[in-house]
Amino acid sequence: MSRSEVRTLLGAPLKTRLAIHNLKMYFEYLLQNLTFTSIIARMNRLMRALALAAGLFFCSCGSRDLKVPASPTYQSIQTLTIRQKCLQCHSSLSTYEGVLQNVTPGNPSTSLLFRQISSGNMPQWSPKLSDAEIQAVSAWIQNGAPND
Ligand code: HEC
Repeated sequence: MSRSEVRTLLGAPLKTRLAIHNLKMYFEYLLQNLTFTSIIARMNRLMRALALAAGLFFCSCGSRDLKVPASPTYQSIQTLTIRQKCLQCHSSLSTYEGVLQNVTPGNPSTSLLFRQISSGNMPQWSPKLSDAEIQAVSAWIQNGAPND
């Protein structure tokens, strides 16, 4: 047996003992310092970070709402909503006359088009339109559904 082999044989258990000792010290440190309140504080920080991340996520999802104008016109509804989310199934909604067949000017609640989007029934197999989009259609119909 060479000298270096002897050294590693003696050294290995020493290293293990040191490692175990370090672990023990670490756990003692944890037990002394991780009181109940500090655990709660840590969890609070974690929850706040998670809430912030979720907030940022939803902000970026909802940013398309910003494009919806305050006083919507037929053109804005056609380009922002109908063209992107309805025409693939309803080619008839590509013209003002086609849209008007599903709309009672001045009365959103009796307009089939508004009822379908506010109930979430349309667009079919897709997520419900954003509140801003539904509001825009409602306001446009309320204003008499002009061809503007
Ligand atoms: C994936 C296909 C699909 C998409 C996208 C879609 N629709 Fe529909 N839509 C249908 C089908 C199928 C029906 C008939 C069955 C029903 O009423 O559930 C229908 C029915 C309707 C009706 C009732 C009158 C009719 O023509 O039968 C309206 C109004 C309507 N959709 C509006 C919309 C609007 C507005 C959008 C976009 C926001 C939209 N749809 C998106 C498939 C779709």
